[in-house]
Amino acid sequence: MSRPAAKVTRFPQLYLNANITEDTETIRRIENAGADALVLTIDSSAGSNRQRAVRFGVGSANTQLTRLTWDYYDQLKDVTSLPIVLKGVTGVETAKKAVEHGAPAIVISNHGGRNLDGSPSALEILLEIHREAPELLDQVEIWADGGVRYGGDILKLLALGVRAVGIGWPYMFANVYGTEGVERVTEMLKRELLVDAGNLGLESLKEIDSTYVNWTPNYWLG
Ligand SMILES: Cc1cc2nc3c(=O)[nH]c(=O)nc-3n(C[C@H](O)[C@H](O)[C@H](O)COP(=O)(O)O)c2cc1C
Repeated sequence: MSRPAAKVTRFPQLYLNANITEDTETIRRIENAGADALVLTIDSSAGSNRQRAVRFGVGSANTQLTRLTWDYYDQLKDVTSLPIVLKGVTGVETAKKAVEHGAPAIVISNHGGRNLDGSPSALEILLEIHREAPELLDQVEIWADGGVRYGGDILKLLALGVRAVGIGWPYMFANVYGTEGVERVTEMLKRELLVDAGNLGLESLKEIDSTYVNWTPNYWLG
């Protein structure tokens, strides 16, 4: 007997061009496709500098400037009843604005380091939130991505209060092997997570908090 299909939550990512007519059309198509939420990427309003892409004239080689503003986000909320999650939050001030404008969740992300050289990693941004505005952790659901390669990376983000972690490249590479590869990555990560959590003495992942990691900068250098 086959297992009943698990409920999958679908939250497609979208880029918008700040033209409300065209963007409404895009949102309608996503709604009609049965999405549960939208993830609006906010870290790429000027495209990105990808030298290799430019050299070979492939994807992301073109610059398209988009004027995304908080007013526009408010306008979009009137267009759809779907929750609009904001992806690409790279600092405390943006996270605070997201709360002010009623974002249901934010994704702390520097786009996997693909968009702006020098932009901080999710780990650094989360440490900044803990230092400067820890109240944000209770005000908005926080997800994070970027550089998650092992179960221990997931644990560190969970320790900082993240509720979900995104993973890009590992699944892209695994996909060379199709479903089998993708399932294998998930199994490996789950196993690593279990082992590391067990060695930390956790009975449940829900128990983890920031005290499980020593966050002192340059700890080993003294
Ligand atoms: C091939 C590729 C394409 C991506 N395309 C998008 C995209 O269209 N929109 C977006 O918001 N992020 C995009 N990302 C970034 C991911 O959503 C995510 O932020 C990043 O991959 C996380 O870092 P990681 O790859 O180190 O796990 C892309 C990432 C990769 C690897």
